[in-house]
Amino acid sequence: MRHKKNLIILALGAAAVFAADFAAEGDRWWAHIQSLADDKLQGRDTGSEGYREAVKICCRDDGGVRTQAGTFGATLKMDSMSDSIAFYRHALPVESAAAVEAVIASPFLTSGAVCKTVEKLLCEFFGTAHAFLTSSWTHGAVAALLALDIGAGDEVIVPAQTFIATANVVELIGAKPVFVDVDPHTLLMDPAAAAAALTPRTRAVMPVHLYGQMCDVAGLRRVLAGHPDIAIIEDAAHAFESSRDGYLPGQHSDAAIFSFYATKNVTCGEGGAIVTNRTDLAPRFHSTRLHGMSTSAADRFSGGRYNHWDMVCLGTKANLPDLLAALLPDQVRTIRDRLPARQKMADRYREAFAELPLRLAKVLPGCSTAEHLFPIHVPPAVRDDAIWQLNTAGVNVTVNYRSVPDTQYYRGKYGFRPEQFPVSYHWGQGEITLPLYELLRQDQQDRVIEAVRGLSSLFAGSRIPAS
Ligand SMILES: Cc1ncc(COP(=O)(O)O)c(C=O)c1O
Repeated sequence: MRHKKNLIILALGAAAVFAADFAAEGDRWWAHIQSLADDKLQGRDTGSEGYREAVKICCRDDGGVRTQAGTFGATLKMDSMSDSIAFYRHALPVESAAAVEAVIASPFLTSGAVCKTVEKLLCEFFGTAHAFLTSSWTHGAVAALLALDIGAGDEVIVPAQTFIATANVVELIGAKPVFVDVDPHTLLMDPAAAAAALTPRTRAVMPVHLYGQMCDVAGLRRVLAGHPDIAIIEDAAHAFESSRDGYLPGQHSDAAIFSFYATKNVTCGEGGAIVTNRTDLAPRFHSTRLHGMSTSAADRFSGGRYNHWDMVCLGTKANLPDLLAALLPDQVRTIRDRLPARQKMADRYREAFAELPLRLAKVLPGCSTAEHLFPIHVPPAVRDDAIWQLNTAGVNVTVNYRSVPDTQYYRGKYGFRPEQFPVSYHWGQGEITLPLYELLRQDQQDRVIEAVRGLSSLFAGSRIPAS
């Protein structure tokens, strides 16, 4: 017991030293950035793009941004010291702070006029009748499942190859996630696989548009034609700019849910949205996102007087504040124009890797992918060595995703075994996600490509599965 206490004290001490070091580092970099700003003001060259950005922050001459500049400086230093390529860098311009400032200057911080503006933009973008901003994909999905009255005793079909959130929301509302394996070429849920998993308890199917390529939602709708009580909820967290055979998320389903998490193509740090054409369900989505209340705080004072509210159903707290929503309008307006640059980058990867013994996710004709993530698959026996080798070459990567039924929680609760979902399991054991983002420069991408080519020596003797 005493030993444990000592360990905790030691850990807290180490954290404090690290925080102090980081702050000191920030201070040093703040001074450096100020001198760079000076250079810029004097018309002297300030070096790399990143430094110029730092200078831009500093040029605002605002003591309040000092910590931000310091932290940013420390991040830049880490990048430059290790000469590494970040897995992801957001492209939010510093100028977007003005939209947040405008909210701060208004009397209303939580969901109000800004959210309504964004919701209207989303309806226009997706051609849906309704849109509801949420605090995350996860909370939006919980609100949607509650709106559909799904709970204990019900089943929801989800793919085994996805981010854990897709299944977790089903668990959270007390229903049972029923996993199906994915197509070995696209890694997407096949409508036929979903149909095979139907039981009298099935209440919804959640296809996931993994990495940005849309599932066959129209096909899923066809196989569910005899089951009007089974909802289709699209996990469109990766698919803001995606289309399939000319249709968009939300057009063939009961709801499509997006994520505006920090690394998504459209982001406000944390956030999400539900879009739907189900006018009958719209008031339910509105309420379950706000504790089941009949009116939101903003609507409570409309007409210049206080309007009573009631609790009409059980809901959660899933609304997005205007403070964060303010970052979205510009991105929604420009995202389609920004897609070609990422498409070009993804195509460069595809071309460069065509002759390598790697598996790539196949993109089907008729699918326009949002190119949210770029996954490669290497033989599982050498995956971790491959990650290490890429890291050593200064390329930061991640894994998206291990098969969900293979995680400790789901194995423990349901006793799943890898052979039940072999495609997802095998993909999850060999997957590596490469850097793919707007700010990735061509010379950096060239380095990633070279580093991936350099993995070939690892594959000698490994069995390369067919795509
Ligand atoms: C496929 C998928 N679904 C759901 C989520 C959850 O999104 P959020 O973090 O907004 O809750 C993510 C997040 O990365 C995701 O990748």
